[in-house]
Amino acid sequence: MKKYMIMTFGCQLNENDSEKIAGMVENLGYEKTDDLSKCDLVVFNTCCVRENAEERLFGKIGEIKKLKEERGTIIAIGGCMMQEEHILEKIKKSYKYIDLVFGTHTLNKFEEDLKKIIEEKKKIRDVIDIDGEVIEGLPIKRNDKSKASVSIMYGCNNFCSYCIVPYVRGRERSRKKEDILKEVESLAKEGYKEITLLGQNVNSYDGGDGYKFSNLLYDVCKIEGIERIRFISPHPKDFTDDVIKAIKDNKKISRIVHLPLQSGSTKVLKEMNRKYTKEQYLALAEKMRKEIPDILFSTDIIVGFPGETEEDFENTLDVVRKMNYEQIFMFIYSRRVGTVADKMENQIPEEIKHKRFERLKKLYDDNVSKNNEKFIGKVEKILVDGESKNNENMFTGRNDANKVIIFEGSKDLIGKMINVKITEEHKWYLKGEVEGK
Ligand code: 5AD
Ligand code: SF4
Repeated sequence: MKKYMIMTFGCQLNENDSEKIAGMVENLGYEKTDDLSKCDLVVFNTCCVRENAEERLFGKIGEIKKLKEERGTIIAIGGCMMQEEHILEKIKKSYKYIDLVFGTHTLNKFEEDLKKIIEEKKKIRDVIDIDGEVIEGLPIKRNDKSKASVSIMYGCNNFCSYCIVPYVRGRERSRKKEDILKEVESLAKEGYKEITLLGQNVNSYDGGDGYKFSNLLYDVCKIEGIERIRFISPHPKDFTDDVIKAIKDNKKISRIVHLPLQSGSTKVLKEMNRKYTKEQYLALAEKMRKEIPDILFSTDIIVGFPGETEEDFENTLDVVRKMNYEQIFMFIYSRRVGTVADKMENQIPEEIKHKRFERLKKLYDDNVSKNNEKFIGKVEKILVDGESKNNENMFTGRNDANKVIIFEGSKDLIGKMINVKITEEHKWYLKGEVEGK
């Protein structure tokens, strides 16, 4: 059997697209491998949100060229980066040996394109600049047997000034509620326990006729067998009261909410085009805590946005202290060609960006253990992922707050929801004992 490998860069939306690519590739008779040297097909699914992903990609492509020369491996590259004009030019000019280049709006044609390459030995460049329609019914080969991601909307209309996503993923398009619910129902039947609803701006989902994200949450919660529901990434500006109420009313919805801050400075937020102030963000979180007392937060923060002063950065640290986040995804601002922020003149020197990043990281790191202590002595519902890498008697899983929990168990627990009493905290994981053993 011919062998394939998909290398995925970037966010969970890309991971979900890669599962669809895997479905199409397997339809053509390929089998997955982890051994690059045995590959007859290598697919890169790219990301362009930050610069370092580009460097990593071009490094990897170079490595694969040798493989192509030795065994005729087909190379396909697609995803967000291919929607950037200067990257597409670079590929066309300097990477002529790549067999297939596909964009975010032509994913649905991947199988057809690949078939042509195999049968007619063609080179295909299939990138278009028109928003793709929502395509249903693509095959999918999922990476996990108990947790699944379900894309509910594509694209973004927000144009945060630093972000390339609206340019490469196009305008917001929502899937029909019936299609989403059908997908979740069939996942439940297959035994999936946890669902993550995905969208670049997930809470601006619009199912038509007044059917909103909150309505979808209620309906997904009604599906029997699904025990935990997460969603990423919401925008604070769309975190309306009906969404808060939906979380409050439905215990299946995870109590950890991702609430991207980006910056704690009202001035920087305005420059970022985020449409909320520091005070509005904190007030929203306060309201959510009042309505849902056991709520926890995670966030995204960018340091070193153009014009960020020491005082602006202090405001970010201030919000971090006040919010007590369970998890922070921290990013150093990265210039993206074509965005508004890239044209700003007051770019921050690399050294200052890195120093601020380290200060933010330290503030967060110093707080992790203290934050974990609240779990000790509690019985937590865990979805068991698998065996621990280092000890075959130990297993890992995640609780509602998405913390890694390690405990002594047995293989039959994998994929099940079980109760584990937390006994110790070890900063990046918690230790526990299975209840009712
Ligand atoms: N530079 C750094 N971080 C960025 N993000 C998006 N664009 C950039 C950029 N140009 C971060 C934001 C977003 C996350 C997915 O990536 O924090 O929420
Ligand atoms: Fe980018 Fe802002 Fe859209 Fe998120 S909401 S994808 S950060 S433009």
